[in-house]
Amino acid sequence: MEHFNSTPLQIDLRRHLRENDEDRDLTRLICEIADASKYIINAIRTGDLGMAGTSNLYGEKQLALDVLSDRIIIKRLRHSGVVANLVSEESDEVVSIDPDNEDKFSVAFDPLDGSSLVDVNMAVGTIVSIYKGGNLLQPGRNQVAAMYILYGPRTTLVYSTGKGVHEFGMNSLMEYTLNYQNIRMTGPARIYSPGGLRSKYTPGTERFARTLEENGTKLRYSGGFVPDINQLLIKRGGVFMYPHLTDAPSGKLRLLYELNPMAFLVEQAGGAASDGRRRILDIEPDSVDLRAPVFIGTPAAVALAEQCIREEEG
Ligand code: AHG
Ligand code: MN
Ligand code: MN
Repeated sequence: MEHFNSTPLQIDLRRHLRENDEDRDLTRLICEIADASKYIINAIRTGDLGMAGTSNLYGEKQLALDVLSDRIIIKRLRHSGVVANLVSEESDEVVSIDPDNEDKFSVAFDPLDGSSLVDVNMAVGTIVSIYKGGNLLQPGRNQVAAMYILYGPRTTLVYSTGKGVHEFGMNSLMEYTLNYQNIRMTGPARIYSPGGLRSKYTPGTERFARTLEENGTKLRYSGGFVPDINQLLIKRGGVFMYPHLTDAPSGKLRLLYELNPMAFLVEQAGGAASDGRRRILDIEPDSVDLRAPVFIGTPAAVALAEQCIREEEG
């Protein structure tokens, strides 16, 4: 992992994409989303934390910030000129912009993941998954790019177009400049993030969690998917799980705009992502709101989870 923030000449996001010969329209799309994050930051820091009154298709009450963040991103993407279709956690169905244009991109995104953490001042994020063409119901292995923006003590942006994973920090001018490129999860899993109620774990997941703890793996769980995954990447190792539960066999997290983008990024960093039995990126979605269990991070830890589940649950 090369460290850049000490160089006098800061490499900003657009330059990094250009110097990696990225497609011009994909570069434009990634930079539009980066620009949208500046408005989301302002909304988080100063916005109304009241309830928006409406609810998304999961029946979850939408915080005003969820709705506002969704609108900010949709507005930017709608006018970007490079988007065919988009779908977000906050919209019940696909939003068609230029639906039959296979030269454009389709975007699945979670505008504000962990929104319920804002009023307790904990870190939240935006998660984005990008495909070429109009079809959003593709397996995650077909993504052409994925990214997240983490609104924490510092604002950071992580992206990959399939050529490694790179982290940028927002500077005083609200520009994203390169911190690290080609981040690799080379270390052992010293931390683990167990989502969901432990009392509802199935035997395989329970054995996996117990084995991690017996090995001295420390529990680190914020309740925010973006900071919890970011921690694994930047600390070069660890494992996050939001498993199948006895009363929720598909777990909680959504495939299209939470699991697929994070699985793409973690695999690009040398990590692994499974639903407990198969690779997340190989799941063929039949609907935009599909949920799946997830075990993601250091490959050896993910393999151990699969082994525990196979041996305990068949
Ligand atoms: P969102 O706020 O977009 O609905 O997502 C919240 C998710 C994710 O951020 C996190 O990993 C998970 O909810 C935490 O769930 P629990 O509160 O059940 O632990
Ligand atoms: Mn979410
Ligand atoms: Mn959300």
